[in-house]
This record gives sequence, C-alpha cells and structure tokens, in this order.
Amino acid sequence: MAGALFWAGENEGTHNPPMLWIKALHIVFVASWFAGLFYLPRLFVNLAQVPADSHAERERLLMMARKLYRFSSLLMIPAIGLGLWLWLGFGVKGGWLHAKLFLVVLVIGYHHACRSLLRKFEQFENKRSERWFRVFNESAVLLFAAIVVLVVVKPF
Ligand code: HEM
Repeated sequence: MAGALFWAGENEGTHNPPMLWIKALHIVFVASWFAGLFYLPRLFVNLAQVPADSHAERERLLMMARKLYRFSSLLMIPAIGLGLWLWLGFGVKGGWLHAKLFLVVLVIGYHHACRSLLRKFEQFENKRSERWFRVFNESAVLLFAAIVVLVVVKPF
C-alpha cells in the first residue's frame, strides 16, 4: 500500500523530508481552517447583538460570515486530505491518532453546525443568545488544543 502512493514510506519522521513537507502543509492548512472556525462564531456574537432595525449592519455581517464560511470550507479539504495522506501514506499509528480522529470528526461537525447557524441568521430564525455563541466559540479553541496535545505529546 505505502509503496504505491506517490511520496509515501515508513514513518521515519525526521529522516523523511517528503513526510515533513506534507506535515508542514498539513499544519498550515489546519491553522488556516481553524482561523475561520475561531472567527465565524465571533461574527455570530455580533449578529446576535444587532438591533432588529439595523439592516445595513446585519447584511454586512452576513456577507462577511458567508464569505468566511466558504473560505474555511475550501481550507478544510487540504487540511484533512494531507492528514489522511500522513496517516495512510506513511503508516502512522497509535492510540493518540484514534482519539485525534474522533476529535477531528467533532471539528467537522462544528464546521457544519456553523453552516446551519448562519442559515438561521439568514432566515431571521436565530433564537440563540449572544452568550451562547461566546461559549460555542470557546469550544473550538478547546477542540484545537486537545488535538494539538494529542498529536504532539502522543500521551497514549
Ligand atoms: C482527518 C484528519 C486528520 C488526520 C488523518 C491527521 C493525521 C495526522 C498525522 C498522521 C500526523 C503526523 C503525526 C506525526 O508524524 O507524529 C499529523 C500531524 C499533525 N496534525 Fe493532523 N490530522 C488530521 C487533522 C488535524 C487537525 C484537524 C488538526 C488540528 C489541530 C491537526 C493537527 C496536527 C499537527 C499540529 C500535527 C504536527 C504534529 C507534529 O509535528 O508532531 N491535524 N496529523
């Protein structure tokens, strides 16, 4: 399997420049994806604060949120693709990776939750409070921190 994939091989880590290039790109796209996941709920906090008669401000925040969601979705694909390449292409394994993949599924769920929350704002159907969105925002930070600790420290 590994031999068949272009730029694959044993998980020799520091002795495997191709793997290091893929890992570096993986981290770049992961960080960019999360920049969107950190800022999008911040826009939702602002949208939840907008007075009902401030249409211009509401439309501006919605336009920003739509663009940011589309951009984050584009970044999610290489972030995950390069991670899968590292995992399946270089035979990386360990309990930490299983736990990481579980959290990554939660992050993908979070990403899609942002889409449905945005849709609720677009249709004047948001019922959630500004405080709820602040807590929602922090959960992305906790997910990010947990994944980074798992993949760098590899505690199990
Ligand atoms: C399906 C999704 C993903 C898969 C399959 C995956 C898989 C991997 C693998 C196999 C490595 C190499 C580990 C090593 O060589 O020690 C890695 C590195 C890394 N991953 Fe992911 N990853 C995914 C998503 C993510 C996400 C969402 C984050 C966000 C925090 C992330 C953060 C990192 C970091 C920081 C490293 C570098 C660790 C190091 O150099 O020690 N990954 N990933």
